[in-house]
Amino acid sequence: MTFLEFVLLLLVLYYVIYVVLWIVLDCNVALWYKSRFGVSLSTMRGQVVWITGASSGIGRALAVSLARHGVRLVLSARRQEQLEQVQDECLQVARGLLAQKDVLILPMDMLQLDKHQSALYSVLNHFERLDVLVNNAGRSQRANWTDIEIQVDRELFELDVFAVVHLSRLVVRYFLEQNGGRGHIAATSSIAGFSPVPFSATYCAAKHALNAYLMALKTELRKLDVTIFAPGPIATDFLLEAFTGAQGGKVGQSTANQKRLTAERCGELFAVALANKMDLTWCGLFPVNLMAYCARNATLTKILGQYMTEKTLNKIREGKL
Ligand SMILES: NC(=O)c1ccc[n+]([C@@H]2O[C@H](COP(=O)([O-])OP(=O)(O)OC[C@H]3O[C@@H](n4cnc5c(N)ncnc54)[C@H](OP(=O)(O)O)[C@@H]3O)[C@@H](O)[C@H]2O)c1
Repeated sequence: MTFLEFVLLLLVLYYVIYVVLWIVLDCNVALWYKSRFGVSLSTMRGQVVWITGASSGIGRALAVSLARHGVRLVLSARRQEQLEQVQDECLQVARGLLAQKDVLILPMDMLQLDKHQSALYSVLNHFERLDVLVNNAGRSQRANWTDIEIQVDRELFELDVFAVVHLSRLVVRYFLEQNGGRGHIAATSSIAGFSPVPFSATYCAAKHALNAYLMALKTELRKLDVTIFAPGPIATDFLLEAFTGAQGGKVGQSTANQKRLTAERCGELFAVALANKMDLTWCGLFPVNLMAYCARNATLTKILGQYMTEKTLNKIREGKL
C-alpha cells in the first residue's frame, strides 16, 4: 500500500466512524466527548447560574443536574409552586452541597421587560455575583405556514427572542462592569434553529434569530462565553403551551408515547455543555442527531430537502419515526 493509499484509507475510516457515531449517539460528537473526558461539572461548584423557564421540562432537568454538583441556582418562571418543587428536588439531589439559601426562587414573567433589571438586582443582592445566565424559557409552535396570524409571529418573537435579548443585554452589561466582560450567556435554542422543520415557521425563525443574536454577541465580546444548546425532540410538556397559528391558541397536546430524548438526559448534556463552555451543541435520538449533522452541511441539506417530504420531516420531529 502506498503512503497516499494509507492516508486515504485513514480518511475513509475516520468518516465511517464519524457517521456511525452520528447514528448511535444522542448528541453531537464533541458534546459526547466532553461528557466523558471534558471538564467535570464539579468545577462549577459554588458558581451562580440563573435559569429561566426552570419550573418544568429542560430548565428543571438542568437545574437538578447542576444542583447535584453544588452549583448555586436562581430558578425563574411564572409558576411559583412548580419552582418550589424544583427547589426541593435540587436540595435533595445536592445531598448537603447546597442549603436552602443557595437555590433562590425568583418568579418572573419574561414578557415584562421592565421587571428584568430589578430581577437582576435581586440575584445580585442575594448572591453578590452571577456567573451564568441560561435563557431557557420559551414556547414552541404547531401551525401551517399560511394560517399564522401576524400577531402570533410577534408574540412568539417577544418571548423566544426579544425577552431573551433584553435580559441578556442587562447581564452582559453587568459582566462588563464587574469582570471586564468575562461571564457566560447560554440559551436553549433548538435544532429547528439551524434546520427548519415544517409546521413551526415562526418558531424556526425565532430560534434562528436567537442563534444569530448570540453568535453576533460572541464576535463582539471575545472574553464572554456563549453557549447555544439546541435540543431535538425532548419529552417535556412543551406542546401543551405551544403556539398555534391563531392568536391566543395553544396546541394543548401531550408528548407521551412519542420517541423523544428524556428531559433528564437533555439536562445532563446541557450541564456538560455549560461546564465545558461549548459554543454550539445539540442532542436528540436517531435520526434527529444524524439529520442535525446533515443540516450543518449545505450539500446534504439540499439532498435531504429533495428526498424528504414535509410529512416525513414532521414524523421525525414528533418522534414517530
Ligand atoms: N421539548 C422540546 O422538544 C424542545 C426542543 C427544542 C427546544 N426546546 C426549547 O426548550 C425550552 C424549554 O422548553 P421545554 O421543552 O422544557 O418546555 P416546558 O416544560 O413547557 O418549559 C417552558 C418553560 O418556559 C417557561 N415560560 C413560558 N413562558 C414564560 C414567560 N412568559 N415568562 C417566564 N417563563 C416562561 C415555563 O414556565 P412558567 O409556565 O412557569 O412560566 C417553563 O418553565 C424552550 O425554549 C423550548 O423552545 C424544547
